[in-house]
Amino acid sequence: MSLTVQLETPTGGKYEQPIGLFINNEWVKGVDGKTFETTNPATEEVITSVHEATEKDVDIAVAAARKAFEGEWRRVTPEDRGKLLVKLGDLFDKNADLLASVESLDNGKAISMAKVDVALCAGVLRYYGGWADKIEGKTLDLNPDTFAYIRKEPVGVCGQIIPWNFPLLMWAWKIGPAIATGNVVVIKTAEQTPLSALVAANLTKEAGFPPGVINVISGFGKIAGAALSSHMDVDKIAFTGSTVVGRTILKAAAGSNLKKVTLELGGKSPNIVFDDADIDNAISWVNFGIFFNHGQCCCAGSRIYVQEGIYDKFVQRFKERAQKNVVGDPFAKDTFQGPQVSKVQFDRIMNYIKEGKDAGATVEIGGNRKGDKGYFIEPTIFSNVTENMKIVQEEIFGPVCSISKFKTKEEVIKIGNNTTYGLAAAVHTKDLNTAIEVSNALRAGTVWVNAYNVLHHQMPFGGFKESGIGRELGEAALENYTQTKSVCIRLGDALFG
Ligand code: NAI
Ligand code: MG
Repeated sequence: MSLTVQLETPTGGKYEQPIGLFINNEWVKGVDGKTFETTNPATEEVITSVHEATEKDVDIAVAAARKAFEGEWRRVTPEDRGKLLVKLGDLFDKNADLLASVESLDNGKAISMAKVDVALCAGVLRYYGGWADKIEGKTLDLNPDTFAYIRKEPVGVCGQIIPWNFPLLMWAWKIGPAIATGNVVVIKTAEQTPLSALVAANLTKEAGFPPGVINVISGFGKIAGAALSSHMDVDKIAFTGSTVVGRTILKAAAGSNLKKVTLELGGKSPNIVFDDADIDNAISWVNFGIFFNHGQCCCAGSRIYVQEGIYDKFVQRFKERAQKNVVGDPFAKDTFQGPQVSKVQFDRIMNYIKEGKDAGATVEIGGNRKGDKGYFIEPTIFSNVTENMKIVQEEIFGPVCSISKFKTKEEVIKIGNNTTYGLAAAVHTKDLNTAIEVSNALRAGTVWVNAYNVLHHQMPFGGFKESGIGRELGEAALENYTQTKSVCIRLGDALFG
């Protein structure tokens, strides 16, 4: 099999899709000669096959990264690292139509949303480009005979394992802070969505990154992902995905070289609406909170709690609103919700829907597959739920939510926190005291007030409790990619002892 194929998307036309492994700024085949297929979830048809990285390829990519880290990359100044990231961001803008259409093709997300993702990628890459020459240490005043200073040094070779729900955006979130701080990366994409990151890999070369600094490989979690996380020469793993795999990665780090680990995992986020909220506003954010990206968001507002005074009216109007979400062809201009990413995810979600029905919850709307081709699921709202139901406790990662009634602020804080997760939450109210009191009491890494899913590269993002370790975005992400070195200098000629 060659290293590129010609593909076509409804909005991007014909283009050359790289399908190799991107190592050392070159396209190569996997050592074992394996390939795997990727599917268009809207049609269930195979798009193409890509070359698969196995353990040996991970070794090669890690060695290439190590060589770059010890060699040429060290001599690139912080200012120039910044320029490279800014250039890469600009190339994302320049190639936005292509990147967005490849993203929609492979992942199934609506093209209008994919375009937003690409713009966000450009933003985050430029943002971290700006940080590259602002990674500063400190001097310490210990005593007259000693001068000490603190350096913020890169961690080294970073393995980055990303999921399929935002293939390009997670790529940019991971690469931005790692490169800004002088690290090198081997990034493994999700097996469901390898294509857009390979297109982006070409842009890293065009931007001028030296060979080995950014390596992009396609492969399976249990093979390439496991090889990266247990590798003795990988200094750090940054992972986004399921909590189950997050635990496996921590164990792999513990069982190998104790590499640093940051994890961005699942969620079961509460979205709380008080009686005094602006109801129209709240409904549109609640709708966006759960149905955006087909519910495939780690921070999805999947547990909706509405105060008793407006509950009946809210449910009625939320149903009407959700039924207006356009579900269908990702390439149609007005589509809001495309298919779920894969057959596995589709089946998992349909099973949860069945669990909810069997447990006695009421299906207010949806509850079924939509159409008979493609992994489309109707926006689904469950009411009459109890806190111990699986659909209220477990991450569904689809267009499915539960809605229930609460009486008091104290009660909703308690139920809001009744989860092992702690990624996000939201409060809808016009009362400033309620907004602040509830926001402070919720154990979550991000709390929105009168909004939902508003992410920005300046604002740290990550989880409390089992939703993860470390923060992405903002200045906070730089912490994950630097280590502190103290240099202590004895001054003068005073003898010791
Ligand atoms: P996953 O956690 O298996 O996949 C995410 C990434 O981890 C992929 O790149 C995969 O290849 C890799 N991976 C899988 N097993 C690995 C291993 N043993 N060692 C190293 N890397 C490994 O998630 P999956 O199975 O695709 O989705 C299952 C559930 O995970 C979803 O239903 C959802 O609840 C959650 N999820 C959460 C995401 C988030 O944004 N936090 C993203 C994707 C999934
Ligand atoms: Mg695909």
